[in-house]
Amino acid sequence: MENEKKVLLSGIQPSGDLHLGNYLGAIRNWAQLSDQFDCYWFMADLHTITVRQVPAELRRRTLVQIATYIACGLDPDRNTIFVQSHVPAHAQLGWVLQCYTMFGELSRMTQFKDKSAKHADNINAGLFTYPSLMAADILLYQPDFVPVGADQKQHVEICRDIANRFNGVYGETFKIPEPYIPKAGARVMSLNQPGTKMSKSMPEGCVFLMEKPEDILRKFKRAVTDSDTVDPVRYDPENKPGVANLMQIYAAVTGRSYPQIEEEFSGQGYGAFKSAVGEAVVETLRPIREETERLLADKGYLETVYRAGAQRAEHIARRTLSKVYRKVGFLAP
Ligand code: TYM
Repeated sequence: MENEKKVLLSGIQPSGDLHLGNYLGAIRNWAQLSDQFDCYWFMADLHTITVRQVPAELRRRTLVQIATYIACGLDPDRNTIFVQSHVPAHAQLGWVLQCYTMFGELSRMTQFKDKSAKHADNINAGLFTYPSLMAADILLYQPDFVPVGADQKQHVEICRDIANRFNGVYGETFKIPEPYIPKAGARVMSLNQPGTKMSKSMPEGCVFLMEKPEDILRKFKRAVTDSDTVDPVRYDPENKPGVANLMQIYAAVTGRSYPQIEEEFSGQGYGAFKSAVGEAVVETLRPIREETERLLADKGYLETVYRAGAQRAEHIARRTLSKVYRKVGFLAP
């Protein structure tokens, strides 16, 4: 039965508190898809140590992330929710795939260039070969689609290249997955620097899912717009990036189109618009925050979820790994 459904997989690094970009670009869409697909969602903890982490914080955030996945509507009975480091096949296939990934390809990765500029004192090998591990995360489960925000498209593309290369040498082994990028919310920008994507490293322009409503409203009130005065709420990403970003967020949380939003705020200034966006976001996040808090109070339940998830994931992942080990010529244990 299970195998008749198409397979979806994605993950998020518990390297910072989850934010509105993670929600709109990724998790929200996962919940909408989980009825029709066989779904695997994981906490990409192995990836986080490419940058130094505080161990206790990493553990805490991993658990909060599991609770948030469930609070966002991922039902553990119908989705496989697990922690990457609990399934050893990720690291094992990651090693094999490193040997089928080219130095030149890895050198072109935008995330590597950005992160090595940001952490110039720690440009470690893991940061460089990260896309091979991500390819392993994906290919182990033979998914049809990988739902991610626009910034991860390049990594899914290199995963396809690695899979094609491997299949070319050893015959059909991996299914070639497609990135699945949402229409609204694929690239949420920082509220105070609309030229850069929203990320935890710039907290003033970033809305965290667990943040207090008054802090969220304050951040939206301070969001950067421009000095237009006549019907300023217009969708023009090139000339009005701050406004376009707020419109994108509003469209994503209310389901309204850009023309509808322009009409709704015609004749009004930025003050009213920014408050409306802030309030819509607060109302969207409120039930998620409350449910996450409720779930975090029951650690026993979260444990049963991630243990069962790891078991299911392990079963599928092992199968792919054994096939790969056989194909490359490792002696069966
Ligand atoms: P990560 O942890 O940086 O981000 C997790 C998800 O959130 C999306 N995202 C955004 N979407 C819209 N606007 C933003 N400002 C924004 N910021 C983040 C990302 O596109 C992503 O979908 N390498 C991955 C984690 C990973 C993974 C995988 C994903 C590891 N293995 C296998 C898919 C499949 C990462 O660093 O995402």
